[in-house]
Amino acid sequence: MEIKDAQFVSSHALLSKLPLPVKHEFAFIGRSNVGKSSLINMLCNQKHLAKTSSTPGKTQTINHFIINDFWYLVDLPGYGYAKTSKKLKAEWQGFTFDYLAKRTNLLCTFVLIDIRLEPQKIDIEFMEWLAVKKIPFAIVFTKADKLTTNHTNAAVVAYKKFMLETWEELPMIFITSAEKRTGKDNLLEFIDQVIEDTSEFI
Ligand code: GTP
Ligand code: MG
Repeated sequence: MEIKDAQFVSSHALLSKLPLPVKHEFAFIGRSNVGKSSLINMLCNQKHLAKTSSTPGKTQTINHFIINDFWYLVDLPGYGYAKTSKKLKAEWQGFTFDYLAKRTNLLCTFVLIDIRLEPQKIDIEFMEWLAVKKIPFAIVFTKADKLTTNHTNAAVVAYKKFMLETWEELPMIFITSAEKRTGKDNLLEFIDQVIEDTSEFI
């Protein structure tokens, strides 16, 4: 799939205000600063569609973008930002978890993980929550440009090994770099396939 057209639709912190759930939807989530907004811009061939920042906590609401006038791509606020107050953390959990659990048109959630880090408790626990709730997700490793190819591959093998200590099955895994624009075709091909598979059952 080629993204020919990508446009900002809305930015909300209230589920009742989100666009009607009548189009297929894919969401991007992960720790603050992991590169969610940058990856969305890379996929859409635009520099400033989703707002990015070197300061964690930039994205604070649920942001919808309409792709090729056909499906939604969603940028979510990050989790795990140490400086966030307890109140804000609770608010984030409240509306993001609600969104993930209730959004009927959400076909897959991409959980972004910085390739340079050892498996983090917060990501593992979040993916466990998704699995318990039966919310389909895939892992997207980000910032692969920061490591050599050998180190990248070793990091992915180590992550899989860690997960397999407790998980029976692994989700789909993608390796990306917004900086070097890698991983785009694989991700878009996957999205295309998921849409196709879903349409067969409608
Ligand atoms: P929040 O909205 O705060 O949760 O962050 P985010 O996950 O949307 O991260 P964002 O895309 O704003 O990027 C955070 C920082 O990481 C920025 O300084 C980006 O330039 C940088 N960054 C994002 N992706 C990459 C990448 O693939 N490679 C490198 N080297 N830097 C990246
Ligand atoms: Mg962001």
